[in-house]
Amino acid sequence: MAEQKKHILVLNGPNLNLLGRREPNIYGNDTMEAVFISLQGRYPDVDFEYCQSNVEGELINKLHEVGFVYDGIVFNAGAYTHTSVALHDAIKAISAPVVEVHISNVYQRETYRHASLITSACVGVIGGFGMDSYRLAIEALLAL
Ligand code: DQA
Repeated sequence: MAEQKKHILVLNGPNLNLLGRREPNIYGNDTMEAVFISLQGRYPDVDFEYCQSNVEGELINKLHEVGFVYDGIVFNAGAYTHTSVALHDAIKAISAPVVEVHISNVYQRETYRHASLITSACVGVIGGFGMDSYRLAIEALLAL
């Protein structure tokens, strides 16, 4: 019997809709759309969905929506990483494994970015590899 395709959600939080234009010295010049298309091409056996929101509650709703159905979630929570107990609780509440992602190396940046409220709810963290962090997180999910 043919193997079922894995379903992975790539979820981006606040300000990440501006990738390609936002602080390119930190986040690079690539748009998320281009990165997502290249990921789809690279993993034809994976069914990807992409979602971005600047609204904390919408991110929580999305986690609830797919969190009992999908095989994994790659999540860049942006600045909510450092502030959101509600996102921590949402990740804990669902059964799908969540990999925390950061484009930049947050430990080389301001100290307020060194603390993450979501790491302990996630299976692991990938950060500091630019947009390639998303691919590395997918690799990690597929290897679970
Ligand atoms: C980020 C790092 C966060 O500190 C920041 O608020 C972001 C992006 C990253 O991908 O490097 O919005 O999550």
